[in-house]
Amino acid sequence: MSEFHYKDGLLNVEGVSLAEIASQFGTPCYVYSRKAIESAWLEFDRALQSQKHLVCYAVKANSNIGILNLLARLGAGFDIVSVGELERVLRAGGKPDKIVFSGVGKRKDEMQAALKANVKCFNVESVNELVRLNGVADKMQRQAPVSLRVNPDVDAKTHPYIATGLKDNKFGIASENAIATYKLAATLPHISIQGIACHIGSQITTLTPFKDALLKVLTLLEQLKQLGVTLRHIDLGGGLGICYQNEAPPARAAYIQAIIATLNNKNIELIIEPGRSIVGNAGILLTKVEYLNESADRNFAIVDAAMNDLIRPVLYNGWHAIKRVVKATNAEERVYDVVGPVCETGDFLGKNRLLRLTHGDLLAVCATGAYGFTMASNYNSRPRVVEIIVAGKHAYEIRKRERIEDLMTGENLLPES
Ligand code: LLP
Repeated sequence: MSEFHYKDGLLNVEGVSLAEIASQFGTPCYVYSRKAIESAWLEFDRALQSQKHLVCYAVKANSNIGILNLLARLGAGFDIVSVGELERVLRAGGKPDKIVFSGVGKRKDEMQAALKANVKCFNVESVNELVRLNGVADKMQRQAPVSLRVNPDVDAKTHPYIATGLKDNKFGIASENAIATYKLAATLPHISIQGIACHIGSQITTLTPFKDALLKVLTLLEQLKQLGVTLRHIDLGGGLGICYQNEAPPARAAYIQAIIATLNNKNIELIIEPGRSIVGNAGILLTKVEYLNESADRNFAIVDAAMNDLIRPVLYNGWHAIKRVVKATNAEERVYDVVGPVCETGDFLGKNRLLRLTHGDLLAVCATGAYGFTMASNYNSRPRVVEIIVAGKHAYEIRKRERIEDLMTGENLLPES
């Protein structure tokens, strides 16, 4: 059963109604279910039981330290892409030896911080980066654990902005250069080769691209073995999709089964980096209808959340279900564009939605636990919203609503001249 369900005519998260949350914490507000997050992570971990493995949650999907702490307590690893994410994971109690560091543009100070913290592995994406990392490790008299992220040239069949495994994308080392780069890595005294990595994209809803990418990685693994380079792990990245509208992505366990079958009894540690599939369906954005602006041509529901709180609709054409919190209403059914107060035509949360609305109604914008709050901004000088996690009958504030003063922190007036 979904952790988001109607009970006594009210949309609930676990054992708490969203109406209660709105009255206690105000709107707009992100609300997550602890149980949904935990069970998603455990489903991956359990499906991988027969295989040496590490599930590294992709922090970028939702980096609130309350959520990271929850996952750390389950024994999760973490996939990070910046020193900011590193600090969050450490503060949340994540274990450094379960952290993999991805990203195409790691700065020297970020490499230093990650070496100092003793992360499990750097997923290196270019020759330049490899050489820089060797230099940084040399100065610190350290060995940097490394996987090379290869670009398998596989079409993930997803939105072009979130496809990463095609040769036209900026990510990873081109397959044809992989062997030469491993040979180079083997000559660098402060690089310790650990594995091979790839990540082909996000919101992938079929298994074929994952299997194709893994087969390419396995071919490279064999070639490397011939050359005397043995690897300890394969990192297959993240990317498993969720259902937003009518997509039918494979279940987590089916995805893992397909990977294990493709691995074909290889005795090697498998790392995966799921983000969206752990938190995406575990969160909603709670918002209130401020005004209805209706006309012969178009009806607008103007709500208090906006594109700065949730950028996915306009950035990726993302579709999120929009549901009433109080199920019953006498309002007439109309087709609405649900829009925010920001001064842009791109400021919409959903278009052409058949809804019964009155001003003051509460709405839940669904499946926004991933890439919702983490992509929020202060555009139009709007404070970022409060984040709540529900566990059973209790609601906890895991990030307070920003205040207007917070918006100007660090800004200065010019001195008089
Ligand atoms: N590993 C790496 C190296 C990644 O770049 C990503 C996501 C992940 C793992 C996690 O992928 P997931 O399991 O969440 O699909 N903002 C976009 C998604 C961007 C994904 C970027 N990389 C959206 O809202 O759809």
